[in-house]
Amino acid sequence: MPKEATHGDDNNDGESLELVISQLPKASSWLKHGLTLYQNCWLPSNIISNIISFQKQFKPKDDDINLASIPKSGTTWLKSLLFSILNRNQHYEQHPLLTTSTHHLVPSFEYSLYSNPKLHDLSTMPSPRLISTHIPYASLPDSIEHSSKSRVVYISRNPLDVIVSMWHFANGHPDRCSHEWSVEECVDVFCRGETVFGPYWDHVLGFWKASLEKPEKVLFLKYEELTENTFGQAKRVAEFVGFPFSEEEESNGVVEEIVEMCSLSNMKGLNVNKHGYVRPNLGNKLFFRKGQVGDWINHLSPSMVERVNNVMMEKLSCVSFKMS
Ligand code: A3P
Repeated sequence: MPKEATHGDDNNDGESLELVISQLPKASSWLKHGLTLYQNCWLPSNIISNIISFQKQFKPKDDDINLASIPKSGTTWLKSLLFSILNRNQHYEQHPLLTTSTHHLVPSFEYSLYSNPKLHDLSTMPSPRLISTHIPYASLPDSIEHSSKSRVVYISRNPLDVIVSMWHFANGHPDRCSHEWSVEECVDVFCRGETVFGPYWDHVLGFWKASLEKPEKVLFLKYEELTENTFGQAKRVAEFVGFPFSEEEESNGVVEEIVEMCSLSNMKGLNVNKHGYVRPNLGNKLFFRKGQVGDWINHLSPSMVERVNNVMMEKLSCVSFKMS
């Protein structure tokens, strides 16, 4: 898929980069830093330079596994599953998920690894490296797409549940702007496409199309399918990343153990997720809420639902992609 030349494609460094970023279009958000439009995506303004460093500097390895999502689609769950699948033959005294934040076990390119490249040496990370990102497919470094066999596992989720999940997340977030966000405001910015890493539809369609064009490279998952058949989807993911479960593992209940370890009820009850932190002021617990498919019905009015559905129909009408 060719990358379009759009806002923010300039190759500037240092101070001139700051200047270029400051001149890009801006939108307000529940995030106090606001959003900046870069390569057709509304990014948190405070991490654009991290993303540019990631795009310019990252050197993929063939066995890398990149986990991609738009926020609130089930990133944390997929991180736990993938981590457990890839590391199932390590001999731990205690499973790392029991004591360490999932977001530390599977770091983010833009929030962690490229927030201060001096602190992280990606070349020393054990293989296969499992790293996550929220940036759209079209903005991934060219090297991931063209010059490596590294794989991408994407998770999508029904937009109505993403809105509701984001609304709760926003109001509990330490970097929230001064006022509490109403669910109406969340629907409104969603329908304008001005959500964190949005527009939602471009994000989902970018990875969906890539998964059709390059099925060996991009696996497209849906939160709803993962909920309905976690066992089957965990096997699908394991096969895709080149770590299929053996018959012996299956009959010994290894898949069930992983599914149970990564279940919301288990993860939410762990001390590390009740009291630990992703970043100094951002608690793990904000990432574990209800995990209910269709929770939107409890929070969105019929007119809000109609508005979102109309936007989705308009944006997705030209493709055969179906929301859950
Ligand atoms: P809800 O707010 O609907 O409960 P992300 O990790 O992309 O930020 O997504 C967060 C959403 O995934 C939240 O949804 C959260 O409760 C849900 N979630 C987190 N861990 C989960 C797990 N182990 N199983 C199912 N859902 C999970």
